[in-house]
Amino acid sequence: MKARMIVDKSFRIAQVDKRIYGSFIEHLGRAVYGGIYEPGHETADAGGFRSDVKELIKELNVPIIRYPGGNFVSGYNWEDGVGPVTERPKRLELAWRTLEPNEVGTNEFISWAKEVGSEVMMAVNLGTRGIDAARNLLEYTNHPGGTYWSDLRRSHGYEQPHKIKTWCLGNEMDGPWQIGHKTSAEYGRLALETAKAMRLVDPAIELVSCGSSSTGMPTFPEWEAATLDHTYEAVDYISLHQYYGNRDNDTANYLALTLDMDHFIHTVKSTCDYIKAKKRSKKTMYLSFDEWNVWYHSNDADRQIDPWSVAPPQLEDVYNFEDAILVGSMLITFLRHADRVKMACLAQLVNVIAPIMTENGGRAWKQTIFYPYLHVSKYGRGVSLLPIVDSPKYDSKDFTDVPYLDSAVVHNEADEEITIFAVNRHLEEALDLECDVRSFEGYRLIEHIVMEHDDLKAVNTASEETVKPHNRGEAKLDSGHVTARLAKASWNVIRLKKA
Ligand code: AHR
Repeated sequence: MKARMIVDKSFRIAQVDKRIYGSFIEHLGRAVYGGIYEPGHETADAGGFRSDVKELIKELNVPIIRYPGGNFVSGYNWEDGVGPVTERPKRLELAWRTLEPNEVGTNEFISWAKEVGSEVMMAVNLGTRGIDAARNLLEYTNHPGGTYWSDLRRSHGYEQPHKIKTWCLGNEMDGPWQIGHKTSAEYGRLALETAKAMRLVDPAIELVSCGSSSTGMPTFPEWEAATLDHTYEAVDYISLHQYYGNRDNDTANYLALTLDMDHFIHTVKSTCDYIKAKKRSKKTMYLSFDEWNVWYHSNDADRQIDPWSVAPPQLEDVYNFEDAILVGSMLITFLRHADRVKMACLAQLVNVIAPIMTENGGRAWKQTIFYPYLHVSKYGRGVSLLPIVDSPKYDSKDFTDVPYLDSAVVHNEADEEITIFAVNRHLEEALDLECDVRSFEGYRLIEHIVMEHDDLKAVNTASEETVKPHNRGEAKLDSGHVTARLAKASWNVIRLKKA
């Protein structure tokens, strides 16, 4: 099987906003307690945060981390998580039915995020709370001083304002499971009024309005149209969330799910542009895909967990090799929409549907999906180029004309590097790729990284990393043409650099 591609330096989609390599930490399961924070762990720092986990996050170079939820935020009183730790209340956490000790809160998280090199994307509670709690939190984090809330922050030991730039106006407010779930009219009005008040506190912030929780929601995409009718001029982004799973064990169909994701992005873009036209607006709405991943392996186990314990092992999906391929394809999809998708958060980062896992009191280790995320975060910075792809195709249960080759290309102008990210979706055959890169003169091949495995269901564990990349791929660059054999069911990263 053969596939062809043309990559030209003038086929620019857009500069990649590095925040598409963001992630997410929610007060859920062992993400915070037992994940990033475990006082008493042999690697814990003075504040109780695990250094082994910090190192893995630094390796991923995560530019922005969403916090503190998720469904959690819709029942959260942020005031519970600031001030002397010994005086903080322990609460029933209703979204995930656990106990929240509030040992980690806003200030600890922001300081930790700084240490791992990330900005914070902060969400406010528009479920049980509203304008007042949101504007007070913003005054607490961002106002320099001389007011009740900013002086309270200073009295808690944080003299300088945190200057949090990006704020989510609630979480998944279209979902009936959400505490304080709202109709589109209720949410649209509340989000607009909260946005107005927050911008009065700090005009430098950026705001994300809640879009649909998935393409499967019965209110999608009317929710987007109806809420943006209220919020269009007051916000900068609308959110998208999507999780996939291979529940029927149909891998050909599973690996085609990025066609659904692509369609999702197109639909949200079009809906935003419809409201833009309706309002005769000059402003373009950008997309924040602030929850995305594979999530299904842990569903049954989660139903067995008894309520009201601190940090139970919830949503601990163990990812296999085929999940890593789909995650790579999802990242490719963001790159091809770099003109509109400006932020995206792999949900989540540690233990909870995560690339990084920990043992309580023990090791930290890398799941299979760690690697495509690492590669794209590392090599996917620059200008996203539109590859012209001619690939054989297949039909699956839910999709027709699925190209076996899925690809995105990034040109890092500063470092004079080009990276081709490519998935071969064929489960039995290798794909011979020929890629015309003649517009890039004087380049040489640096390496061809490959993730391949005979067993699509192979997983990593704390003691054995069976699924990991190697750089023995045999791509060649000759007379402006890259040729490479892409192994069956594989993730590939082909790197070129000006000689
Ligand atoms: O990431 C896990 C959960 O998925 C989040 O809390 C929620 O927003 C979504 O439904």
